[in-house]
Amino acid sequence: MKSVAKEIGIDLGTSYTRISVRGRGLVLSEPTVVAINKVTGEILAVGNQAKEMLGRTPDNIVAVKPLKDGIIADFDATRMLIQNLVYRVIPRSLFYKPKIVVTIPSAITDVEERAVEGVAYSSGAKAVYLMEEVMAAAIGAGLQIERPEGSMIVDIGGGTSEIAVLSLGGIVTENSVKVAGDKLDKDIVEYVRTNFNVLIGETEAEEIKKQIGTASSAMTEEKISVKGRNLSTGLPETVVLTTLDVNNAMKNSLDIILKTIKATLENTPPELSSDIMSRGIVLCGGGSLLKNIDRFISEQTGIPVFISESPTECVARGVSAALENIEVLKKSVKTKKGIV
Ligand SMILES: Nc1ncnc2c1ncn2[C@@H]1O[C@H](COP(=O)(O)OP(=O)(O)OP(=O)(O)O)[C@@H](O)[C@H]1O
Ligand SMILES: [Mg+2]
Repeated sequence: MKSVAKEIGIDLGTSYTRISVRGRGLVLSEPTVVAINKVTGEILAVGNQAKEMLGRTPDNIVAVKPLKDGIIADFDATRMLIQNLVYRVIPRSLFYKPKIVVTIPSAITDVEERAVEGVAYSSGAKAVYLMEEVMAAAIGAGLQIERPEGSMIVDIGGGTSEIAVLSLGGIVTENSVKVAGDKLDKDIVEYVRTNFNVLIGETEAEEIKKQIGTASSAMTEEKISVKGRNLSTGLPETVVLTTLDVNNAMKNSLDIILKTIKATLENTPPELSSDIMSRGIVLCGGGSLLKNIDRFISEQTGIPVFISESPTECVARGVSAALENIEVLKKSVKTKKGIV
C-alpha cells in the first residue's frame, strides 16, 4: 500500500506555490493564482488554469494573486489555494492531519506570520512550522551553510528579493526588498504607457521580460511586438519594443536590487566578506533567469556570481531537505511553538 504523507512543505511564493512531500520531494508547482465566483464565493480554478484567466474574467468572476510582496494579501483566497493544492497531494479520503512547513519572507510581521500559520491550519495541519525562505533557498542551492565560512544567497522571486549571508548554520546578515520579478513586469507596463501611450497587460509584460529582457544592455539587440490598447483612441495597437527599451524600463528596479546586495555586503563582517569574495554569490529564484543578471551583479560588485541549479526550485528543495532531516528542520524553523 502507498504510504500516506505526514509531512508537507509549502514554498508559498508570490508567483508560484510549490509543495514537497516527505519522501517524495517536490511534487507540485502551480502559479499562486485563484479564480473565484464573486457571487457565490465558489472557487473556480487555482494555479495554471486560474493564471490563464488573469485580466480576462467576466464581471462575476475574479482571478486574484492572493500574495503581494511575499505576504498574504487575501487570506480567504490563499486558504482556498492551499487547501486545494494540499488535497491534490493528499487525497481527501486519505486525509489525516499532516505537519506542514511553510516558508516565510524575512521581513514579515507577527500578524502576517500568524496569517500564514492560520492558512496552514485551516488546510488541516496538525502542526505548522515556519521556515525562513532565504534559509531554505541556501540549503536548496547546496551552500555549505554549516561551515565556519561565509556564503551569500540572493533569491530574486516574484515579490521580494531576499539576500542573506550565512555561516555556521545561521543567518549573519540579511536584507530584503520588495522589488523583484513582479516589479519588473510593472516597470515594463509603465514604460509602454509613458512612451507609447499604450496599455499592455502584466502577463504580456512578463512574456516580454522573459523573451528579450536583459539586465545588461549593449548586448544583442532583439525586438518584440506586443498588442495593447491605445489610451487616447481606446483601440488596439501593436507596439514594437527593443531590448534597450526593456532594459531602460527595468533599470531602476535592477539598481535597487543591486543596492540591497551592496548594503548587505557592507554589513558583513570582514572575515566573511573575504570568503564571499572568493566563493562568490549564489543566485536563485525565478528572477535569476533574467538574461545577464549574473553578469550585471558580478560587474557591479566585483564578486563572482553563480546561478544555482533549477533556480526556481531552490526554496522547495531546501524545504524538502528540512522534511527529510529533522535536525535541519529544528535549526531552521522560526516558530517558537511546539516541538518538531
Ligand atoms: N526566464 C525568465 N526571465 C526573467 N524572469 C523570469 C524568468 N522566468 C521566471 N521569471 C520571473 O521569476 C519570478 C518568479 O520567481 P519565483 O518563482 O522564484 O517567485 P516566488 O517564489 O513565487 O516569489 P517570492 O519568493 O518573491 O514570494 C516571476 O516574476 C517571473 O516573471
Ligand atoms: Mg520564492
